Amino acid sequence: MTAPLAATSSLTRPADRLAGIVPSRIRVVFDLAAELEARGHRVIHLEIGRPDFDTPQVVKDATGAALAAGRVHYGPNAGSWQLRAAVAATLAASGGPRYDPGSEILVTIGASEAVFLAVMAFCEPGDEVIVPVPAWPAYEACVRLAGATPVFLPLDPDDDHVLDPARVRRLLTSRTRMVVACTPHNPTGAVVDPGRLAHLAGILRGSRVLVLADEIYRELVYDGTRHVPVATVADLAERTITVGGFAKAYAMDGWRLGWLAGPSGLVAPALRVRQFTTTCPPTFLQDAAIVALRDTATEREQMRRAFAVRRAGALELLGRQRILRVGRPSGAFYLYLTYPEQLGPADEFTLRLLEDEHVAVVPGTAFDPTGRGRHAIRVSYAASLDDVQEGIRRLIDYATVRADGA
Ligand SMILES: Cc1ncc(COP(=O)(O)O)c(C=O)c1O
Repeated sequence: MTAPLAATSSLTRPADRLAGIVPSRIRVVFDLAAELEARGHRVIHLEIGRPDFDTPQVVKDATGAALAAGRVHYGPNAGSWQLRAAVAATLAASGGPRYDPGSEILVTIGASEAVFLAVMAFCEPGDEVIVPVPAWPAYEACVRLAGATPVFLPLDPDDDHVLDPARVRRLLTSRTRMVVACTPHNPTGAVVDPGRLAHLAGILRGSRVLVLADEIYRELVYDGTRHVPVATVADLAERTITVGGFAKAYAMDGWRLGWLAGPSGLVAPALRVRQFTTTCPPTFLQDAAIVALRDTATEREQMRRAFAVRRAGALELLGRQRILRVGRPSGAFYLYLTYPEQLGPADEFTLRLLEDEHVAVVPGTAFDPTGRGRHAIRVSYAASLDDVQEGIRRLIDYATVRADGA
């Protein structure tokens, strides 16, 4: 007997777990910016979440050498032993925990894969994951792909958007499996201080709640701020999966390399997911990444200082007006600005800013599914100082005109 013919619609019906996975709103801005540029306009790009610098030359040279040496074949599932050792040494040298490269580190395809592996390995239908918002959109998407439920914790602009453990406590249930702690934070630049982390440790003590510590911006802190790795806080190490990578501080976003680190009991399940997804990171790129960790301190500090100057320039301009509200975020390369409702919804605000002033920024709605991002935008200062200043001037003028006309 032949099987009944499937209706066409059932052929293309995606899995239910894709229901909440929608295209990123950041794309809308990208596409319109590209269209304007194709029409010959110069667009100031303050939407981009990546450094405008090139990868340090020593890293490129090391890639060439690795290719020349024939490092083109599969490697270990967890990543090359040498790169895992270099990641472990880097984390330990910068005040992080001491991880065993053999069992406590995975080299991943960007921090993105690290987040995906961590969530897939530990979260399932019925589980809840606390996601502080506004947030990098991938946390929510990964949680949904795992069939778990994101529970959004609103970060308070009056508290500089810093994670408040008391709010975590209010959202905890018997179903909570994970809490996301991104520090420094995208899109707000907020850095979580050790006191709050200790408070979080006390709240989670005795529970089965894991902490997903996204520290990809760990090196990008300013004004003497110190980044405190979540896993170094007493009682958090045993429950913390830390993710990091090369995209931001190393100007290697296109290389797609990152890491996941934690106690072996948390890393081994992530490795089981990895075995049957991406198998292993590219071998020759991993050789170059060792050089990036070991030999680029000078270039990284130069980039960090350049970001610090741009941040200061942006904050100086913003400090002279009252319509766009911003705190003094200590890390990453973003400013998250909130503004009065009368200036209109962020999606429209950003599109008009792009069309009329040729300045690209991201609407807060891209980071906050709760609706609170409706009157907020993210500005990236990972652009030249001239562009950051000119873009912010145009943004301020535009907001002022809209406020006057409202
Ligand atoms: C907080 C955060 N985590 C992870 C990532 C992804 O990093 P990668 O490019 O290494 O996958 C980003 C990229 O924007 C990010 O902002």
